[in-house]
Amino acid sequence: MEWSGTKALVTGGAGFVPSHIVDLLVEQGATVTVLDNMQAGRDENLTQVRDRITFLQDDIRDPAVVREAVAGQDYVFHLAANASVPGSVKDPRYDLETNSVGTFNVLEAAKDAGVRRVVYASSAAVYGAPEYVPTDEKHRLQPTSFYGLSKLNGEQLGLMFHQMYEVPFTAVRIFNTYGPRQPRYVLADLVRKLMKNPRELEVLGTGKQVRDYAFASDTAGAFLAVARAESLNGEACNISGGNPVSIRDLVSIILKTMDLPDCKVSYTGQSWRGDIDHLEANIEKIRGIGYAPQVSLEDGIRRTIESGTIVGESEF
Ligand SMILES: NC(=O)c1ccc[n+]([C@@H]2O[C@H](COP(=O)([O-])OP(=O)(O)OC[C@H]3O[C@@H](n4cnc5c(N)ncnc54)[C@H](O)[C@@H]3O)[C@@H](O)[C@H]2O)c1
Repeated sequence: MEWSGTKALVTGGAGFVPSHIVDLLVEQGATVTVLDNMQAGRDENLTQVRDRITFLQDDIRDPAVVREAVAGQDYVFHLAANASVPGSVKDPRYDLETNSVGTFNVLEAAKDAGVRRVVYASSAAVYGAPEYVPTDEKHRLQPTSFYGLSKLNGEQLGLMFHQMYEVPFTAVRIFNTYGPRQPRYVLADLVRKLMKNPRELEVLGTGKQVRDYAFASDTAGAFLAVARAESLNGEACNISGGNPVSIRDLVSIILKTMDLPDCKVSYTGQSWRGDIDHLEANIEKIRGIGYAPQVSLEDGIRRTIESGTIVGESEF
């Protein structure tokens, strides 16, 4: 129970990745509060811990709400955001107001509350189209979407609060996280399609795109480790599974796991506008604090499918 006696706020805690952080904090004995406006959060994501946490259904865009939620906390895991790239194309103002200004609200409240660390969910989207892979933290920052821009904004605000007021802050640049409760993107979309029609699968793009997946519990573990790593105070670091895979290979693993050897797979050739061919993280920096991914892609995909929690509709 490494977190016994500590108080932690998880913003966006009813969402996919944040709910895994909530699980781990509760398991480790922390006193956990979740602040989520349920824009994309789901009650079911917190069923397993609901009687052991404080749940505040409210909005990080309201500075007074955030101030009250942050007061008295030791740690703030700040993940509340619009997390959908297509969503940011439809409604860029929401990204500006939540991901950027909402993050400002969290940082200002953290400064006044004197918290021990704000750990912020940043994204590989801050790099834009990679100039080289595996991409390390020194890569130039040039987002290609409103989403990436707002995530970079949040990260830079955090570093500025650190520089100006010594607010303890770390940005974690998530590449692709997958696992139970995943609401969107390739892996969830493929599983959803196969549940509807196990005989045929149409895959967006050429299948040659490469992704670097971390299982949700590994990402959650990384957030907890980072929160206590003094060497990462005032820093940004990448997180991924360190095991890049092509979409073609990903499809094979999924078909094998779902026992669908006869499924007919076709590729559309053209992907969605702005899709990136090769995303792969250099994770040496976070490995430096002892982080090592625990769950293999095969095992993680099996656990994801068996969880039966991939529901809803694709965004593409
Ligand atoms: N899933 C990934 O692979 C990935 C990759 C890079 C970065 N991230 C970042 O990790 C975080 C979580 O992503 P996710 O994929 O779990 O998304 P998610 O949508 O499941 O979780 C985000 C949560 O934030 C809540 N939220 C949104 N606006 C809010 C507001 N104004 N006030 C309070 N709560 C609000 C939503 O209701 C939701 O529960 C996000 O910050 C996202 O940018 C995720």
